[in-house]
Amino acid sequence: MYDDATEVGAKAASVAARVLGDAVGERRAPTWVLAGGTTPVAGHRAIVANHADAVDWRQVTYLIGDERFVPPNDAHSNWRRVREDLLDPLAVPASRWLTPDLRLSIEDGAVDYGKRLRQLPELSSGRPRLDHVWLGIGEDGHTLSLFPGHPSAEVRGTLVMPIYDAPKPPPARITLSLDALEGALTCLVLALGAGKADAVGRVFSGDDRLPIARAVAAIEANGGWVEWLLDKAAAAHL
Ligand code: 6PG
Repeated sequence: MYDDATEVGAKAASVAARVLGDAVGERRAPTWVLAGGTTPVAGHRAIVANHADAVDWRQVTYLIGDERFVPPNDAHSNWRRVREDLLDPLAVPASRWLTPDLRLSIEDGAVDYGKRLRQLPELSSGRPRLDHVWLGIGEDGHTLSLFPGHPSAEVRGTLVMPIYDAPKPPPARITLSLDALEGALTCLVLALGAGKADAVGRVFSGDDRLPIARAVAAIEANGGWVEWLLDKAAAAHL
């Protein structure tokens, strides 16, 4: 575990730079699934500050793991946040962004985003290859927009799902599914602050029903590796 957000962000940035830098170096045209929320901000800023020149970030394709159906410049937009903190400072061209199409209905937006994932290189399993994935965790153990007790957390057979009634506002979202996560090669789970300590403690105590636990299991069951990056407050119950 790490002292604080700055240390977690620095570690996350160095892992992303190593994983994606290796893939770019081997001309594998890697894909990075970015996490929504506020936790990844320290990592994004550490990449801009310390790793901007270490990787040709313009050779990476960027997805967002889940997006709220709000106007693009809305304060709640996950994509707006990652653009401001990461993609624009790294001068990543829009040609590398896989941005959800918010002009569509939530239903059609989910179908459209799933089609975009299908255009990515595939693994032998048939899943789109997600070279690097960052996941946040909610205080209730949700990740992406997969919430405990919510039917979408159980859905199989699709890569991207519409969410109409997320318990965490705003309610309208699209989210990658557990099926999509089965294509992840590497993943960082980031958690900061005392508010996450209960959920983190429950996962490490074996509560495999929480969406974050299901997400990690889906990745590891298909050969992907997962690393948890926690500050002391989030790790308090370990
Ligand atoms: C979202 C996020 C969500 C987030 C967690 C943690 O769109 O809300 O994808 O899953 O990762 O809720 O959010 P914080 O990082 O802001 O605590």
